[in-house]
Amino acid sequence: MMEQELKQINFAFIGFGNVGRAFARLLINRRRWLIKKYGVEWKITGIATNNHGTCIDARGLPVQKILRSWKAHSNLNNFHNGPSRNSHSDFIRQCGADVLFEMSILDLNGDPASTYIREALRAGLNVITTNKGPVATNFRQLSRLARQRDVQFLYEGTVMDGAPVFNLVRQNLPGTHIRSLRGILNSTTNYILTQMEQGTSFEAALDYVKKKGITEADPRLDLEGWDSAFKLSVLIQALMGGSVKPNDIERHSISEDIGRKVRAAVRRDRRLRLVARAYRQGGRVIGKVELQELEIFDPLAAIRGLSNILVLNTDTMRELAIIENNPSVEQTAFSLFSDLVSIL
Ligand SMILES: NC(=O)c1ccc[n+]([C@@H]2O[C@H](COP(=O)([O-])OP(=O)(O)OC[C@H]3O[C@@H](n4cnc5c(N)ncnc54)[C@H](OP(=O)(O)O)[C@@H]3O)[C@@H](O)[C@H]2O)c1
Repeated sequence: MMEQELKQINFAFIGFGNVGRAFARLLINRRRWLIKKYGVEWKITGIATNNHGTCIDARGLPVQKILRSWKAHSNLNNFHNGPSRNSHSDFIRQCGADVLFEMSILDLNGDPASTYIREALRAGLNVITTNKGPVATNFRQLSRLARQRDVQFLYEGTVMDGAPVFNLVRQNLPGTHIRSLRGILNSTTNYILTQMEQGTSFEAALDYVKKKGITEADPRLDLEGWDSAFKLSVLIQALMGGSVKPNDIERHSISEDIGRKVRAAVRRDRRLRLVARAYRQGGRVIGKVELQELEIFDPLAAIRGLSNILVLNTDTMRELAIIENNPSVEQTAFSLFSDLVSIL
């Protein structure tokens, strides 16, 4: 492809944690592929964080250099080259991006990420996020706003990382009605439950997932079933047309005393799993996150460690299962990449 035919596209990041940095590495790895396949050349013109500073440079930030020198105390302000910016609203207005990748942390109210996304959509930016907070709490409003502004609002990474869930239904299940769904959507609790089956303690299992960066910034959001409830809420709103918010979802938690139940299930040749499910009842959709003792031949019982599963019960394909085996942050980064490619 000739140089002059290349289309230039500018990206901005809100959040430069595990996911943001993994996504930046993936973009660098796929730079040639994007040029060859889509004639697209990209640059990152802005990165905003909470405590690691914020920078904008219309010429493109030196992202390789930023990644190479990244440390816990790195400060992105050192890379800023432009007018002063006092808030994230200023950042969104000034970052000069075509696509904003929103990768800040889960908050039960969905804020401030919902505000960032709203402001970006209003300013005519496409938005791609891995943050289930704003999607679950403001799904309809943000989707409508994106349609009104004729931009895209995509969120594949909010459920099962890069495994195609929303893109699969959108692109490959035309005219399909989803009757119900069930799955294991939270890696932290599934890792703890399945490690405890083998005699590992609750604390040791939790420690492992924390160290691996798998838990939410506040691990209570995993243990108390909130992460599963947020994902279930996104699934219900995006795939089943329901309006169930995370607070409407009945939730079970897991804590240290779960060991007794785990062992009792194993003795009965069953398995304890944290199951997220949604079903239709009298014209409404109901969502629940429950600890269930499953028969050993249930496909959900076979899901171990960090792995996830989602089983869709449809009127076209009957039951269709998506399994993601031992995901890491690279798979979350891939969700952003696959959403990006879908809008090129
Ligand atoms: N990790 C995974 O595998 C995974 C999988 C699926 C979905 N997700 C979702 O992806 C998002 C990012 O996850 P992560 O693992 O990258 O988290 P992380 O490592 O904790 O990084 C979060 C980033 O967001 C920034 N941030 C936090 N609060 C902010 C605020 N109020 N305004 C602007 N920036 C803010 C942080 O700033 P500082 O750098 O200054 O702290 C940090 O750069 C989360 O919503 C998570 O639920 C993650």
